Amino acid sequence: MRHLLSTRDLERASAIRLLDVAEDMAQTADRAVRTLPALRDKTVVNLFFEDSTRTRLSFEAAAKRLSANVITFSAKGSSVSKGESLKDTAQTLLAMGADAIVVRHHDSGAAHRLANAGWIDAAIINAGDGTHEHPTQALLDAFTIRQRRFGADARGRGLDGVRVAIVGDILHSRVARSNVWLLHALGADVHLVAPRTLLPHGIDTWPVAVHEHLDEALALAPDAVMMLRIQSERMRDAFFPSAREYGREWGLTAERFAALGPDTMVMHPGPMNRGLEISSVAADSSGSTVLAQVTNGVFIRMAVLYLLVAGSGSDADPIGGQG
Ligand code: NCD
Repeated sequence: MRHLLSTRDLERASAIRLLDVAEDMAQTADRAVRTLPALRDKTVVNLFFEDSTRTRLSFEAAAKRLSANVITFSAKGSSVSKGESLKDTAQTLLAMGADAIVVRHHDSGAAHRLANAGWIDAAIINAGDGTHEHPTQALLDAFTIRQRRFGADARGRGLDGVRVAIVGDILHSRVARSNVWLLHALGADVHLVAPRTLLPHGIDTWPVAVHEHLDEALALAPDAVMMLRIQSERMRDAFFPSAREYGREWGLTAERFAALGPDTMVMHPGPMNRGLEISSVAADSSGSTVLAQVTNGVFIRMAVLYLLVAGSGSDADPIGGQG
């Protein structure tokens, strides 16, 4: 694997390998010395054309834990036309000697462009491109589900037979898209729930079951319920009558949460609109994995950086000799 651009082309074995390396990374978190030398003298550039808090911080933390030099570049607000600015920026980064570029961009396809235009010879990691994909988010979600579901037996496994309901603004969600491909590749049974107005065209070709009513999907007793943020910043039209109506029909309200099985995971990629797609009772419950997802995000990004940047030695044990 040279770049991580999407989960659509990630094979099951590669996905499991990534999750397993992230398990190794998680084990290092309990040590007195948590910094690993794997990326010493390598440079990781975070290139963010769109707002981000947790993803940017998470990549920064991951790169630092692997001893890389980290440069963060927030290009938001640049007035240069998008294609040109991306090319110019790529050439600047080339001059800086970047080994990996983590890119978030408002255009779907920006990471592919950076990887394939021949401007730069670095590993490209997609940290969210428009409404297209957000592969490390899906990987950290899959990691969280696998760990909660299988505990100490998680290593080496897929998610066969695990039922996941993804609920809400599917239309604008790169998190939903990346999760659909990855969860499917790992053998999970994926259900999407949304008002018809928030479903993308062509969804009938996706490897999922689609429901219009949340209660119908929850009646199937999913192992995990993943609530998506209503992405108002991407909406120019009214996609539902009112916030109240949306919350009542598609939100994980306190009543719906109370009716879930005791082992059902409540997930959200953040940032949450509390009281809209998710109630605080659900978000702050013991079944909620919201904070675990943030913690696991660092391990996943360490694994991705390690596998893409550490080079030929990356088949070796990443933490060997560090104990
Ligand atoms: C997601 C994103 O930016 O796509 N957030 C994140 O990475 N933590 C989801 C969202 O913004 O709703």
